[in-house]
Amino acid sequence: MRIDIITVLPELLESPFSHSMMKRAQSKGLLEVHLHNLRKWAVNEYGQVDDYQYGGGAGMVMMCEPLVNATEELSTQRRYDEIIYLTPDGNMLDQKTANYFSLKENLLVICGHYKGVDERIREHFVTKEISIGDYVLSGGELAAAVLVDAIGRLIPGVLNDETSALFDSFQDNLVAPPVYTRPADFRGWKVPDILLSGDPKKIDDWRQEQSLRRTHERRPGLLKGDE
Ligand code: ADE
Repeated sequence: MRIDIITVLPELLESPFSHSMMKRAQSKGLLEVHLHNLRKWAVNEYGQVDDYQYGGGAGMVMMCEPLVNATEELSTQRRYDEIIYLTPDGNMLDQKTANYFSLKENLLVICGHYKGVDERIREHFVTKEISIGDYVLSGGELAAAVLVDAIGRLIPGVLNDETSALFDSFQDNLVAPPVYTRPADFRGWKVPDILLSGDPKKIDDWRQEQSLRRTHERRPGLLKGDE
């Protein structure tokens, strides 16, 4: 899979993709992440990519021309399955959406900044609008890092134990069961006996039951299907 990201702050995104799982995905050749500085398509020699909004009001708006030129130039090199715009008023990112994107070949991600992008970009270029939560970040970059991480780890072969993503929280609309490691007794706080029993069937049943109980207590909306 290849993900191209258009941003005014490529430096902000260099680190998140250079470590751990994202690094492994790229060094295994399973994921390519390419950062493109929007200023390369600036409208003048001062690197301008934003302007005042029509109708007045505080905050700058990202202009059509640089974004269109960037998108069209990149689109001549490959066909994008989706052009994603990160915005707090987009559809909420969830595991189902991450699964959906993880099956694509080429994604183009546009990070908004300032007041966001000129509406015409959203109307004519963007195919999916994604939010990572009901709060406003200073730009789409951190949201892009979250999105790419959520997608990247689902690409087959990226995780060491391929099955482990299957047991992540939310994969089946349940949150994950509790996990423990050594020692079995820490300050008198004991690991549940069943996990030490060596009986895989009993352990599976216990995990399933814990998942259900936790989902019920913490995220009942997932069980009702309204989250
Ligand atoms: N840009 C600013 N805030 C955002 C959010 N919550 N999700 C996605 N993109 C954003």
